[in-house]
Amino acid sequence: MEKKVVLITGCSSGIGLSLAVRLASDPTKTFKVYATMRNLGKKERLLECVKGLHRDTLEILQMDVTDQQSILDAKERVVEKRVDILVCNAGLGLMGPLEVQSLNSMRHILEVNLLGTIQTIQAFLAGMKAQEQGHILVTGSTGGLHGLPFNELYCASKFAIEGACESLAILLQHFNINMSLIECGPVNTDFLVNLQKAELEDMSVEQVDGKTLSLYEKYLHHCNSVFQNAAQDTEDIVKVFLTAIQSPSPAFRYFTNSVVEPPLTKLKAAQPDGVQYIKAMSEIVFSGEEQ
Ligand SMILES: NC(=O)c1ccc[n+]([C@@H]2O[C@H](COP(=O)([O-])OP(=O)(O)OC[C@H]3O[C@@H](n4cnc5c(N)ncnc54)[C@H](OP(=O)(O)O)[C@@H]3O)[C@@H](O)[C@H]2O)c1
Repeated sequence: MEKKVVLITGCSSGIGLSLAVRLASDPTKTFKVYATMRNLGKKERLLECVKGLHRDTLEILQMDVTDQQSILDAKERVVEKRVDILVCNAGLGLMGPLEVQSLNSMRHILEVNLLGTIQTIQAFLAGMKAQEQGHILVTGSTGGLHGLPFNELYCASKFAIEGACESLAILLQHFNINMSLIECGPVNTDFLVNLQKAELEDMSVEQVDGKTLSLYEKYLHHCNSVFQNAAQDTEDIVKVFLTAIQSPSPAFRYFTNSVVEPPLTKLKAAQPDGVQYIKAMSEIVFSGEEQ
């Protein structure tokens, strides 16, 4: 049987790496995986996980989602000249009081999370339309479903992805192409290491007003506690990806756990004026109670 060709972005660590390993190791050898990463100097981790096996099911390619030429070069190197399953996973975070964010760091997160995802989809869209089949999956976030303080730019990028994907899904169903967002809460990955985070002792942060600083401190505490107590492992996320990939009629949204969807997303939907959600989130993150 012909293998399904999968291309994944952001495979140097975290969710992308785990998904690439899982699909390339599938006992049925259903998938040929192109695991892409912007810096091939980081490929050892992925190679260690597959232990030199999977020569026929895994290939590692360079791809920076902010660099159109690098996306086109990676596309060119797909031997099968088609991608059946495209996983737009590359992304990063930016955290801190809005006043301290530089234009460059704000541009960068939008370039990676939003335009990087859109550019990647653009590059493979015509091919999928011509095949009249395919599945595009995007790693979404609770930060794309409801606002989080001190994450304005991250949430803006992930909210925007929701809009772009939902819009595209309406068209793509006419081409037999499925679109799925895998909505994650906190996950144990390198995300926090790679996160651009304003530290309380940074000079720029020290200039922020005292009330914001004290709320930021509470938020950081809350965030640590959430990651310590409620973060999922990448294997849990990969299972949800597999459910979506293997479904004969995939849903548009998948939630990786019950904490991700209700109650906050439901509260937002039930009370569209937003007042209740804003109060509830404020209480959750600033109350100082352990999660
Ligand atoms: N971890 C969480 O709590 C969480 C929660 C919700 C959603 N997510 C989403 O999950 C996705 C994967 O993140 P993760 O948790 O697995 O974190 P991660 O371990 O930091 O992985 C992020 C991946 O994106 C890559 N990347 C960053 N900029 C890139 C670029 N310009 N071009 C190509 N790749 C680039 C990173 O490559 P480098 O190693 O080269 O930086 C890395 O491979 C992201 O979209 C993130 O927003 C994560």
